[in-house]
Amino acid sequence: MRVLVASGPTREPIDPVRYISNRSAGVLGQAIVQEAHRRGHRVAWVTGPVAASAPKTVRVASVETALQMQTALRREFRKADLLVMAAAVADFRAQKVAKQKRKRGGLPNKKWTLTLVQNPDIIAGLARMKRPGQILIGFALETQDGISSARAKLKQKQLDAIVLTKLTQSVPFGHQPISGAILDREGSVTPFHRVSKQVLARRILSVAEERAGLR
Ligand code: CTP
Repeated sequence: MRVLVASGPTREPIDPVRYISNRSAGVLGQAIVQEAHRRGHRVAWVTGPVAASAPKTVRVASVETALQMQTALRREFRKADLLVMAAAVADFRAQKVAKQKRKRGGLPNKKWTLTLVQNPDIIAGLARMKRPGQILIGFALETQDGISSARAKLKQKQLDAIVLTKLTQSVPFGHQPISGAILDREGSVTPFHRVSKQVLARRILSVAEERAGLR
């Protein structure tokens, strides 16, 4: 398969030196890229700003903002058989990016109010461009009502499967084990409990290969 993986955070600038972002470290994305490559798939990787290392034959596009990620994915998506959208896209960006560094002084009441505007839902937009046979797998990071929220996202974003990761005591970013479930559009729910990101990467690719009729 031609596999397209998106991962890592996005970074939304406020001025030339400051930005809004999130805690994603892109570890799961990297594991998916490595596993897909190990299984002999052709891999393209769109990654937000994290330290990313990939096998030589993997085509890597590094992006910063959600809008750049959307452009890179739109370009790659038509060539892909499978998209695994593990990116932690910032849902909002600054309405205006200041051209000069905002100075510490000179603010009324020492307060700086930022107006944020919504970023596009990248995967939902790609799902609307989907051709028959393409497989889309998304993620759902939830703090409550995990399964029902993930199911709603699966439907609303028109995905083939969604990987619910639960945000419990420890944030599911970085190298620690994670728990959650893989849900598919036919209604099946397959839980996973405290697995490493390498193990989860294998399960996700097995689900995709099965859907593609390769297993
Ligand atoms: N996603 C996306 N574009 C966005 C936000 C999310 O493509 N602007 C993708 C994520 O990569 C993930 C899925 O949509 O595969 C769900 O992301 P999540 O952050 O769980 O959900 P949101 O759609 O942002 O909804 P909410 O913030 O209300 O939970």
